[in-house]
Amino acid sequence: MQKRILGKSGLEVSALGLGCMGMSFSYGPPKDRQEMISLLRTAVERGVTFFDTAEVYGPFTNEELVGEALAPLRDRVVIATKFGFDTNVDPRGMKGGGPVLNSRPEHIKQVAEASLKRLRTDVIDLFYQHRVDPDVPIEDVAGAVKELIREGKVKHFGLSEAGIETIRRAHAIQPVAAVQNEYSLWFRRPEEGLLQTLEELGIGLVPYSPLGKGFLTGKMNENTTFDSTDFRSTLPRFTPEALKANQALIDLLGRIAAEKKATPAQIALAWLLAQKPWIVPIPGTTKLERLDENNGAVVIELASDDLSNIESAAVQITVHGARYPEKLEQITGR
Ligand SMILES: NC(=O)c1ccc[n+]([C@@H]2O[C@H](COP(=O)([O-])OP(=O)(O)OC[C@H]3O[C@@H](n4cnc5c(N)ncnc54)[C@H](OP(=O)(O)O)[C@@H]3O)[C@@H](O)[C@H]2O)c1
Repeated sequence: MQKRILGKSGLEVSALGLGCMGMSFSYGPPKDRQEMISLLRTAVERGVTFFDTAEVYGPFTNEELVGEALAPLRDRVVIATKFGFDTNVDPRGMKGGGPVLNSRPEHIKQVAEASLKRLRTDVIDLFYQHRVDPDVPIEDVAGAVKELIREGKVKHFGLSEAGIETIRRAHAIQPVAAVQNEYSLWFRRPEEGLLQTLEELGIGLVPYSPLGKGFLTGKMNENTTFDSTDFRSTLPRFTPEALKANQALIDLLGRIAAEKKATPAQIALAWLLAQKPWIVPIPGTTKLERLDENNGAVVIELASDDLSNIESAAVQITVHGARYPEKLEQITGR
């Protein structure tokens, strides 16, 4: 597996990380724990060194799973986790269908201590603010993480779903190693100024949901149904109508995949990798054969001709359905 460095931070990780959320949270019932431990350890054998979790995934159980699985391999991996939801108000950081945020400095420090225990480690490699908290100046958040770094409890600072001004203000207090925002062929908002800012500041981008929550693999159509505990059952972009209307993207990925003797999932990931050398997508899977398939994307070269073919076809396609319901969209990009 090739390596990449997240911006100017010096933080070296495998070119593709592994998103661990779906092992415990968000996509239906939690998966078998022993199988997930085995998958995480096999991922390390396959060369994956970058693992993504969060306090709120579960909540707590995903960090515990990642901690247990990776403890024997701790010196070979980079573990990223996230703070910023108020799990005291509600374990999922939600109230009345809306999220409750808490990035007060004392809360960040409590979460760090609890995450360290669950992750069975003495240092968090990358500690992201999960969502920007409008009630806490970002300078105070950056200051709290800076203290954790000074104390040796955290190595690097990250932000998730942050807007450009917030990133600049945070970076002035404590250099940001990575921003984790959604980015993929069906969600291209980072191209509206974020990529440019990250390049200027020397910050890496970690695209989440790089496979469009599974859609861009070509394995879904209008007949796909989701368990009521699957978050996608609540998303406008996963209604039968949207799944049908958006098949044009799958046709495009399928055409390029056929030319490259690859799969749509591999092309979706190779396209992200080709955008910038400091981009590190974190596809999520709970299946070994898909982990291997996804990892195969790192050796697929998309030349500038391929990229312009994809671009000219992609601009003709209108993506249907919002990625999030209103209440969740409101807490992004701030
Ligand atoms: N910062 C944030 O706010 C935020 C938000 C969302 C996610 N994340 C992080 O980003 C990670 C990845 O995002 P994501 O899980 O939302 O979406 P994703 O990686 O775009 O897609 C994951 C989905 O695709 C399926 N899948 C994966 N590889 C496949 C393949 N080769 N063929 C067919 N299906 C495949 C998975 O199912 P199987 O498990 O059945 O393979 C799963 O349902 C998460 O694990 C989490 O760590 C962060």
